[in-house]
Amino acid sequence: MEYKKYFAPGRVNLIGEHLDYNGGLVLPAAITLGVTATFIPRSDNKIVLHSATHSFCKEISVDDEIEFDANNDWTNYPLGIIAQLRKENHSIPSCEIIFESNLPEGSGLSSSAAVEVLTAYALLSQTESSINLVWLANFCKQVENDFIGVKCGIMDQYSVALGKKDNALLLDCNKIHHDYIPLELGDYRLVIMNSKKPRSLIHSKYNERKSECEEALMQIRNTNSEIRNLCEAEMVWIDILNDETLKKRARHVISENLRVKEAVKVLEMNDLSTFGRLMNVSHASLKNDYEVTGIELDTLAETAQQIKGCLGARMTGAGFGGCAIAIVHQTAMEEFKNKVNEKYLSVTGINCEIYETQIGDGVHQLI
Ligand code: GLA
Repeated sequence: MEYKKYFAPGRVNLIGEHLDYNGGLVLPAAITLGVTATFIPRSDNKIVLHSATHSFCKEISVDDEIEFDANNDWTNYPLGIIAQLRKENHSIPSCEIIFESNLPEGSGLSSSAAVEVLTAYALLSQTESSINLVWLANFCKQVENDFIGVKCGIMDQYSVALGKKDNALLLDCNKIHHDYIPLELGDYRLVIMNSKKPRSLIHSKYNERKSECEEALMQIRNTNSEIRNLCEAEMVWIDILNDETLKKRARHVISENLRVKEAVKVLEMNDLSTFGRLMNVSHASLKNDYEVTGIELDTLAETAQQIKGCLGARMTGAGFGGCAIAIVHQTAMEEFKNKVNEKYLSVTGINCEIYETQIGDGVHQLI
């Protein structure tokens, strides 16, 4: 039987957290861990979705009504894509798709965006000669917002679709425009520290932060009506806000956007030490002002920051559990892993996982 294979990566965000839905700048990168889809054509009008890691699988007819259903488990992601492609009159081939992932799930490395982008890419590749990846990222984000019900920004789907080996992706979420920033780490390694903390409250807390930012923007607009998003606000305008919490949220957003600009400058000069310091300040801002870290991510990032040979560390993604990242000299790696592991276990009672990762390409066909 003729089959094809496709791959979509996970992502880390190097800096620029919780800025995508505030119209700011983010600096994610696709990683070499990700999800593979084996696509097998069928001729019986059925679509069958399998996973090598989950026992749940789903079979539908090509023209079945599709709605979100929690019982459909992980298959809601590909089903949401299929439903939306159909609504937009793309032809959906009868097929079996087998998903296989080496991305730790639910850990904030965008496994759901990877499955969405991968499904859309694999299906469209059967009938369309070229796929516009910016369109694809927006399409998948819309499915996540409307079908899955998570009010995320564009960063995850965009980096999964458009990531590039050895490059970070500087994405302007207001203009929806990107540039590639070469990331030359030399003797340093990009390290992921997985807190293994289940992110149970994440969706409600995420949506709460989003509403707080919308409220802050509304209040600032009363006196500065020209600004389109919170990232365009000036720091002094925070005094306009009538609530201490809103002031803290806005302070994170405005200062983080400035840090991304600074980060790009120093990366272009290959000044990794300053980049590392910006990562540390970003983490502190997410901890104190945006309040999305928690004891697990703080322990990982702050322990890492103290270790010789580590240039910087911060949480990555939405927070409330999930992963932190660090930039660590290769000769310090063993000691780094031991020290972080030991401290994390003593504080939380959980064994974390630490992986060295590489920056890879966005979604593509393997065979
Ligand atoms: C999640 C969301 C993204 C982004 C990050 C925080 O990963 O899916 O859109 O908001 O959180 O930067």
